[in-house]
Amino acid sequence: MLSQENTPIFDALKNYMNENTISFHVPGHKHGKGTPEFTEFIGKNAMNIDLTIMPDLDSIMNPTGVIKDAETLAAEAFGADRAFFLVNGTSSGIQAMIMAACREGDKILIPRNAHKSAISSIILSGAEPVYIRPEINEEFGIAMGITLNEASGAIRKNPEARALFIINTTYYGIASPLPELVQLAHDNNMAVLVDEAHGAHLKFHESLPVSAMEAGADLAASSTHKLAGSLTQSSMLFLKGERFSPGYIKSILNLSQTTSPSYILLASLDVARKNMAQKGHNLVSKAINLAQWARYKINAIEGLHCMGSEVLELNHGFGLDPTKLCINVKELGITGFAASKILRGKFHIQVELSDFYNLLAVVSIGDNKSSVSALVNALSNMACDLKGKNKIKLPPIPDLPIPELALLPKEAFYSEKRPHPFKESYGRISGEMIMAYPPGIPIICPGEIITHDIIDEVLLLKEAGSLIQGMEDRELNYVNVIK
Ligand SMILES: Cc1ncc(COP(=O)(O)O)c(C=O)c1O
Repeated sequence: MLSQENTPIFDALKNYMNENTISFHVPGHKHGKGTPEFTEFIGKNAMNIDLTIMPDLDSIMNPTGVIKDAETLAAEAFGADRAFFLVNGTSSGIQAMIMAACREGDKILIPRNAHKSAISSIILSGAEPVYIRPEINEEFGIAMGITLNEASGAIRKNPEARALFIINTTYYGIASPLPELVQLAHDNNMAVLVDEAHGAHLKFHESLPVSAMEAGADLAASSTHKLAGSLTQSSMLFLKGERFSPGYIKSILNLSQTTSPSYILLASLDVARKNMAQKGHNLVSKAINLAQWARYKINAIEGLHCMGSEVLELNHGFGLDPTKLCINVKELGITGFAASKILRGKFHIQVELSDFYNLLAVVSIGDNKSSVSALVNALSNMACDLKGKNKIKLPPIPDLPIPELALLPKEAFYSEKRPHPFKESYGRISGEMIMAYPPGIPIICPGEIITHDIIDEVLLLKEAGSLIQGMEDRELNYVNVIK
């Protein structure tokens, strides 16, 4: 009988190691003996369990042994009907979800601020994206979630769409009203696909936004490595209900999955699942308490504002993950980018990300009072050093209508392109994405028609010193358009 106490993959690796098996298989480093410098640094145990598919270790392509058992335990712990282990991050789970739901030409309803792995998956699948504009919070300059109203408007206009894609939560910890969105999509015969890259811990605490599986979503891709303690690149894809068959999902995963998965990554998923199943509530409680303490302390520092539940009053129906500390630094007269450099250079603190207005610090199951106090003290010292210094002029937050789609992203991707002077690109079809931070929403995507408003907005943002990404020409003088 399997129980959450067990770690089938990890145990199989330790058995192999303890039997002193002589290797005549790959990997060719042969338990680290071929690469002594690296082995000495990383440790013999790590090299000994760097194995790949063999009979007692099962196969990720068609699991029937220890991987199957570990996935069964993971499904139970995370509240899913099935779990699939991934060794190429949540990006590969997002790709599988979109390819499972959409064939060439099928519509998918998707927030405009979706991660680039979702846009890549739309290119791969040949789907037609119908973008939903997320709400913008003006003070923090960030994209919030999508409202029930926006989603139902999009569903009414596109009743033939196959799926609704939702981000739970955004990078900044904002959750859309997921249970209501799931109900709405299902009532309209659409699948619900959830990007849970920032939500692997949600299931384990009642004060966090509800997880995709609890909300009844059909599929969710979850970065176990980001917030549930496994190693970087290891994620899980969850399935619930009857809309997708596990066999079909597996066959889609197998299209692009490596045939040599790292067992170190797989074992780390196994052990992270055990840890969360057994101690998740306590660990997440501790992280929430530490983050709330830090939020309170940061908000007492003159010139800083750490986002809290007050933002939810402006955006009805949304939720917030309190372990994400989004710290607005604009009153200090510096950008978030500059603040991040100061924290790293002067105080040896590395935050998760920075944008023009904010820093984002993640508090997780690995933190303690001392790490969080170091962050608070560094912020306090930085604010003190900057007191009375000049204010900077912040760029406007772009909030343009979503442009008309002339070509499917896949067609645009495969079309011939040429550079064209950006200022004169009105009416051309863009061959690339242009994105401004904040708020991290694409201004234009491949296949969309460039308008005068888009040209004016991008030039204004450039002039104001905004961070503009995506265009091959970093000076933004030329944009690649479809020939
Ligand atoms: C919102 C969102 N979705 C998906 C991903 C991709 O996840 P992974 O890095 O596990 O592939 C990320 C990564 O940062 C993300 O922020």
